[in-house]
Amino acid sequence: MMSMATTLFERGDQPDICFIQCANRPADLIFRKRLEYMATRVTGLQLHLVVQRSDPYDVWTGYRGTLNQLMLGLMCGDYLDREVYCCGPEEFMTGVRDILNSLGFDMARYHQESFNPVALAEPEVFDDVVPDATTGAELVFALSGVTKACKETDTVLQIAKGAGLRIPSSCNFGLCGTCKVRKTAGEVKMVHNGGISDDDIADGYILACCSHPIGRVEIEV
Ligand code: FES
Repeated sequence: MMSMATTLFERGDQPDICFIQCANRPADLIFRKRLEYMATRVTGLQLHLVVQRSDPYDVWTGYRGTLNQLMLGLMCGDYLDREVYCCGPEEFMTGVRDILNSLGFDMARYHQESFNPVALAEPEVFDDVVPDATTGAELVFALSGVTKACKETDTVLQIAKGAGLRIPSSCNFGLCGTCKVRKTAGEVKMVHNGGISDDDIADGYILACCSHPIGRVEIEV
């Protein structure tokens, strides 16, 4: 990322880069000074920094938390029209792919850095679970005694509404947590925006507005 950004900067052309760096704390941000230097000299390099938590006794005015759909839209409103280059630990890159997939990004324009020399010679093949509009699924509302056939791309909330069942909801964007329901069987693909905790997920809860059933799924509704 840094060598590409530096090359475009030093060529003297006006680059068009939305550079997003995520780290645990501000002190962990790499190349921060150099990136800030470049970003203050050309308007075509927009720099966005995201940290999980701030350093003690140091003011932090950037983004805080885990990169999510909302942040991405605020930082780079035209991301759907761009090439995306991603670099980082596999867990992070999987999270980025999840966000982009869930937003309908054309993954042919997604590129990621690989540190595996064997994989360099071969095109990257991701084993991500991506809901497919042509694949059927089934959602069982256990407490209501209702079963609905659906597509993987439908959300649990949409399927419930279609079945005449009410799951309280508000933001419809995985943020507020209002639509949290318990899943008792099966798998869903959920890409949320912080509206559910890891503990809740471990206990089997999902957010109905941003969960897609994969195969047969049963929920407590
Ligand atoms: S409605 Fe807000 S998280 Fe689902």
